Amino acid sequence: MSKFSVTPWGIVGKIDYVELQEKFGTFPVGSILFRRFARYNKLHPMLRRGIFYSCRDVDTLLDKYDAGNKFLLYTGRGPSGDTHLGHIMPWLFNKWIQDTFKIPMYFQITDDEKFLFKNLTLHDTRKMAYENALDFIAIGFDTKNTKIILNTECVKTLYPIALKVAKKITFSTAKAVFGFENSNNIGQIFYTAMQAAPAFLASEIEEREVPCLIPCGIDQDPHFRAARDVASILGYPKPSMLYCKMLPGLNGMSKMSSSEDNITIYMTDSPNAVSKKIGKAFTGGCVSIKEQRQKGGNPGSCVIFQYNYYMFEYDDSKLEEIARRCKNGDILCGECKAILSEKINIFLDRHMAKREKAKEVIDSMAFGDFKW
Ligand code: TRP
Repeated sequence: MSKFSVTPWGIVGKIDYVELQEKFGTFPVGSILFRRFARYNKLHPMLRRGIFYSCRDVDTLLDKYDAGNKFLLYTGRGPSGDTHLGHIMPWLFNKWIQDTFKIPMYFQITDDEKFLFKNLTLHDTRKMAYENALDFIAIGFDTKNTKIILNTECVKTLYPIALKVAKKITFSTAKAVFGFENSNNIGQIFYTAMQAAPAFLASEIEEREVPCLIPCGIDQDPHFRAARDVASILGYPKPSMLYCKMLPGLNGMSKMSSSEDNITIYMTDSPNAVSKKIGKAFTGGCVSIKEQRQKGGNPGSCVIFQYNYYMFEYDDSKLEEIARRCKNGDILCGECKAILSEKINIFLDRHMAKREKAKEVIDSMAFGDFKW
């Protein structure tokens, strides 16, 4: 028995990502894919560093692209709380994909999902959907080529596709994939069909097979495994997947979580709050300065180092320098924390400015012109 479990609804324990990949049956992103991506753009650090580490059918998607068949980019967000760094991380990668391939994008906001799975009203989820959408737009997606699908508003378009998907997924499959029990409400059982729908939407609209790439957290694989299983029966191409690891929480656990304020950095956190939270983050450092100077630290178990590795230090030589100085005991945890806090605060400051600007374009990005 493994000591962790990962479903789209929650993570328990410390994730072993290699084991998870085997469990889900996804494939490692390796040097062949690196070389292919490097043909279109300078390889993104999240690929190079094994953060987007697992995939399905990305090679065939690129074959089609090379043959002149552009793909659709699709990712999403369940609006259950304020946006944090763990959400932003894969969106940065999505932006790189859009910039690299100059392709249209769908961003699905699943207010229906969070209503069904959390103790939230539709009014709550709608409000959070708006706030989350601003954070998404602030990443800098091509405003003309990116559409935001809010499920409760776009249901008229999604529903026929979701129905086709739902008809092909039996309750026993849903139970096996998601672990549903008698106590689950029936909306939860249907929901996976709504998350599959945008992957097939462009094919439906254009009446031809439009390939789709979905870069997202690997916790979403159960949905897309189900979607891929039914795709060909319905005459749609199987969506291709690029999966990332989760940004760890500040306590070193597997995931930042909207429900745990202390281990999570929100986009709206004040500079002071960021410094405080980072100050308490887990580094695995020694108890005394003397000991740390002698023994050195361990970047491998340090959350601060992880954040640099995932998002905040993309210069490889600088990152190596940090690791070297840490192991030698040249730099102490306090200094590392101060440097990272500063980087995060600059990032958040810029983000908040772009987020304000996003209010001017959010209406124009609504799929099907719904009103926010
Ligand atoms: N279920 C996802 C969440 O809870 C939201 C989502 C919808 C999504 N469609 C997606 C995530 C596509 C990644 C890719 O956050």
